[in-house]
Amino acid sequence: MAIRNIVLEGDPILSKKCRVIENFDERLAQLIDDMIETMRLNNGVGLAAPQVGMLKRVVVVQVDRDEPAIELVNPEIIEAEGTQEEAEGCLSCPGEYGITKRPMRVKVKALDRLGKEHIYEGEALLARAFCHEIDHLDGILFKSHVVQMLDVSDLKSS
Ligand code: NI
Repeated sequence: MAIRNIVLEGDPILSKKCRVIENFDERLAQLIDDMIETMRLNNGVGLAAPQVGMLKRVVVVQVDRDEPAIELVNPEIIEAEGTQEEAEGCLSCPGEYGITKRPMRVKVKALDRLGKEHIYEGEALLARAFCHEIDHLDGILFKSHVVQMLDVSDLKSS
């Protein structure tokens, strides 16, 4: 496994649409393992392939360190309900946080590294992480969902 560099906001790769995965090969497995390691090292709850420079529909999510990371290949949100407004940030936008409006619960259909289909249900933080990371695959950053940007200096001093 290897740590990959995180692409920062301003790089055009973050606004592009990613390609569907068709080959479930060793390179895909390596990418997923590297993304999990990179997410953990950076204390992220999720990471999308374009954030490591790959225009591929691959996402990893881990909101609970005691659970295994979830790998999502060609993910699709198939159901969404409710709303939540919580603080959100992105490893590609260091130091920037905002309150976003997201669904409270989502159901996601995705493949794993072997091409097997899974359905995941996420609520609260997990729902937000699914939405945030899947948005990255279509070139959308969390700021498009922000209802109010937060001043980080206020956050730190309070
Ligand atoms: Ni992000």
